[in-house]
Amino acid sequence: MIETERLILRPFKEADTEDVFEYLKEPLVHCFACMKLNTLDDAKAEVLNRVKETEYYFAIVLKENGKVIGEIDAYPESGEPHQDENAVLDNFSPCWMLNKDYHGKGYAYEAAYAFFDYLFGEKGARRIYAYTEDYNVPSQKLCEKLGMRREGLFKEFVSFVNDADGNPIYENTYQYAILKKEWKLK
Ligand SMILES: CC(C)(COP(=O)(O)OP(=O)(O)OC[C@H]1O[C@@H](n2cnc3c(N)ncnc32)[C@H](O)[C@@H]1OP(=O)(O)O)[C@@H](O)C(=O)NCCC(=O)NCCS
Repeated sequence: MIETERLILRPFKEADTEDVFEYLKEPLVHCFACMKLNTLDDAKAEVLNRVKETEYYFAIVLKENGKVIGEIDAYPESGEPHQDENAVLDNFSPCWMLNKDYHGKGYAYEAAYAFFDYLFGEKGARRIYAYTEDYNVPSQKLCEKLGMRREGLFKEFVSFVNDADGNPIYENTYQYAILKKEWKLK
């Protein structure tokens, strides 16, 4: 469990089902389209899957009332798909998402800052990088507030959804990153 001034980051519990359904019934960005939940039963199944994830996948919970207002996760990876199986897994790429009713209050920054501190301080992270689409200004601002460097723009990098004719919509994707030696541990 990670505690900040206003938030708790903790593994998911079955009781979080309704809160998760609230923000995943209509994912706000294309990159999370595949996470869309259609029913409360789907949400329950999804949350039950997550309950086993205790190290790298956290619910973002408001201290004042226990509500799950979003989530943050990142898993250790080598950072380069062609490395051999002995490569050190010291790269992490976080996903962050808040219920839209809780945007614009600094909660994402508060959660992400504490999560970065945890990854760098306790989980062996050497480099944390994030992908964000060129139109996703709130996510870009969050990366920048965290001190991440904009390292590149990958043109038509990936497609998450199709247009009305069934053709893939390709997204232009920024990569941001920060190294442990650039991060000041709390
Ligand atoms: C990306 C996302 C998590 C950012 O959330 P956010 O609430 O904008 O981010 P922050 O926590 O940094 O809050 C920033 C805003 O809160 C305001 N704020 C209000 N009270 C604050 C406080 N006490 N402390 C800090 N900031 C505060 C800031 O001024 C800032 O507003 P601004 O953007 O108008 O300058 C959110 O937009 C989201 O969930 N989007 C959908 C999912 C998504 O896109 N994920 C990323 C895919 S790449």
